[in-house]
Amino acid sequence: PAAVIVGIDGPSGTGKSSTSKAVAAKLGLRYLDTGAQYRAITWWMLNNGIDVRDAAAVADAAGKPSLVSGTDPAAPTITVDGQDAAGPIRTQEVTAAVSAVSAVPEVRARLTELQRGIAADGPRGIVVEGRDIGTTVLPDADVKIFLTASAEARAARRSGELSGKDRADLAATQAALVKRDAADSGRKTSPLAKADDAVEVDTTELTLNQVIECVVTLIEEKR
Ligand code: C5P
Repeated sequence: PAAVIVGIDGPSGTGKSSTSKAVAAKLGLRYLDTGAQYRAITWWMLNNGIDVRDAAAVADAAGKPSLVSGTDPAAPTITVDGQDAAGPIRTQEVTAAVSAVSAVPEVRARLTELQRGIAADGPRGIVVEGRDIGTTVLPDADVKIFLTASAEARAARRSGELSGKDRADLAATQAALVKRDAADSGRKTSPLAKADDAVEVDTTELTLNQVIECVVTLIEEKR
């Protein structure tokens, strides 16, 4: 089959990552988590003493870290300057800082270019998940999906994923998630948005397997 390009966007807690990985594995496609790249750049900024609220400083540093994403859906990886970043990019510190970093146009320009290169590289198609894949990164994607869910459902799912000291109570998780989505949707440069030609799937009442089946069907119709 042709190298199908799939973009999956939506706010946090809609099941984007679980769905994207499972769909890619099922169809033999590669997988790219663009949120992990924004988190990785943010982690590097925090480690290197850059004030993430200082957009000029973030812009100056945007090109410095070297990022490598592994695209096997069974074992996606991300390294920053050769260091494994998969664990540290999921901390609350990074999650709280990532929206400020990802709003900086120089950061977006750099990662958009990186993402387009990865999507175009190689004979196999790819599932790319993020916030602006259908609108900006891959406007010509063969299949565009926009996942949504109620704020309550998203907070409950996210809270279930957290562990140890990062496991806040549900209300706090929901507040942080709503705040991050508002920042991501409200920024000037390629905000979180549904592309006009994306298929919207409301996952509130669906199980993960139902969402996976739905997305697989949408892709197979286009292949
Ligand atoms: O998907 P995840 O929650 O890991 O994304 C972390 C953050 O990265 C988002 O809140 C958003 O600020 C940023 N992001 C983005 N554009 C993307 C993917 C993620 O701005 N394509």
